[in-house]
Amino acid sequence: MPWFENAVIYQIYPRSFKDSNGDGIGDLNGITEKLPYIKSLGVDAIWLSPIYKSPMKDFGYDVEDYRAIDPIFGTMEDFDTLVSSAHKLGLKVMMDMVLNHSSDKHKWFQQSKLRDSKYSNFYIWRDKVPNNWKACFGGSAWTYDPERGQYYLHSFLKEQPDLNWHDEQCRQAIFDEVRYYLDKGVDGFRLDVINAVGKDPELRSNPFMFGETPRPYDMQNHIYDRNTEYTHEYIRQLRKVIDQYDDRALLGEIMIQGKGQMEQSASYTGENNDELQLCFEFSLVKQRLKASNLRKVAGKWYKLCSLEKGKTPCWVLSNHDVPRAISRAGGKEPIARLLAVYLLIQRGCSVVYFGEELGMLSKDFPRKEIQDPLGKRYWPIHKGRDAERRPMQWDFSENMGFSTAKPWLEPNYTKRWHLLTVESQETDRDTMLALYRALIKLRKERKEISRCDAVFCDSLPRGMLSYRFVKDGKCTVVVLNMSSRWHRISLSEIAPGCDGMEIALKTYNKVNLSIENGEILVPPTLGVVLTN
Ligand code: GLC
Ligand code: CA
Repeated sequence: MPWFENAVIYQIYPRSFKDSNGDGIGDLNGITEKLPYIKSLGVDAIWLSPIYKSPMKDFGYDVEDYRAIDPIFGTMEDFDTLVSSAHKLGLKVMMDMVLNHSSDKHKWFQQSKLRDSKYSNFYIWRDKVPNNWKACFGGSAWTYDPERGQYYLHSFLKEQPDLNWHDEQCRQAIFDEVRYYLDKGVDGFRLDVINAVGKDPELRSNPFMFGETPRPYDMQNHIYDRNTEYTHEYIRQLRKVIDQYDDRALLGEIMIQGKGQMEQSASYTGENNDELQLCFEFSLVKQRLKASNLRKVAGKWYKLCSLEKGKTPCWVLSNHDVPRAISRAGGKEPIARLLAVYLLIQRGCSVVYFGEELGMLSKDFPRKEIQDPLGKRYWPIHKGRDAERRPMQWDFSENMGFSTAKPWLEPNYTKRWHLLTVESQETDRDTMLALYRALIKLRKERKEISRCDAVFCDSLPRGMLSYRFVKDGKCTVVVLNMSSRWHRISLSEIAPGCDGMEIALKTYNKVNLSIENGEILVPPTLGVVLTN
């Protein structure tokens, strides 16, 4: 089985993980230092948000040079050390490849401004603004460049011009940057907004749509600047590039609208499984985290990415762009524990966002302290993404052990912060951290989880979610009581045909629970995993 088919991936936002040189910003050596901790979680891989040389207008998602490490994060040598140390520990390393756009400081763009250069068509230039496209981070998607005397397209900031994937030379240059890291031994890539790379060649205007927010970008149906047939074709080409290497993975960020577009997300695995091996599905980022939604989304995701079709579903609840799942669920740890079970006891690949394993919370910043360009522009409609990028909470020392200097974003000193550090959770057996470790261990031990798609039990009371994996007489059954009531449920209902079921894990160890006469009485907001 390729490594990514049953992997737990740990996402690191490098600026916020660990500062090794006392400048208040996390860096590569900080990550290397903490690899043993990451390994101790039982995860298989790390994914690093961008670390390339960048003017940091979008904190690294504006790449000036794909082959250079930004001095803030360290050197290429530090990167190589990080990769080899991770590999020694048996951890895979995934880079974040931002290939829809570059920074306006990138050599390609600088040269593209001079019309008769080799890079002339590397970006999308027009004499007049050709359509109604909006930039995700505000304003028109078109900006005039006096040097070239034309408008260029940028789907995000004006400092992030979109690369022109229709240009063969441009595409080959992009693939060369990817090869550079494949040659270095990187195990895969998370691909930033990859469903936006192939723009409609006619640049037609998007139709109007009532969106999720009044932001002009959300009031359009993105049928011409995203999800075109060209995008699929270019992704197939990219897949061929990585298939020339052994065991490398592509995990795509698929931008969606409304409450989710699951078919759209799944389509990027390719009709013939020749596109991305893994795709993010963000419906649950946009919907309330209640049992019925989890059931709907998971059921559909298993169908779209079934074993039968040869696909691998990918599971995610938090990342650097949205408030953490625990905060979306009202900051309640018992619910976050249920979500942890849901995230990790699944077939496929699960992605954990750093600090999720501690129950770290998102907390907004006052307007004047906002650093994220999105928040600066759209406060208070969108308060920006700083809240979920606050520093990792290591211990009780200065700045929670993140840095000896003033951190670029202030750590989240909530009332309960002293319970939400690695140091405080390491020693206790009933912490969130212990639960994450136990869940990952169980997921690895129980082979049936990686060998079949979940089957759901739909006869339980509202607020309950139960699903199971059954293979060759071995069963793993998940039961999540997301309601505020006690529920008595019978094993014959949740685990039909499975003999000898026992309680393998509870979201709180200390809660007394037993199987009596083939039934369990599950307390409110408790999760149980049963095995035989
Ligand atoms: C993706 C990234 C986000 C970034 C944007 C533009 O959505 O996850 O952080 O701002 O792309 O690159
Ligand atoms: Ca630093």
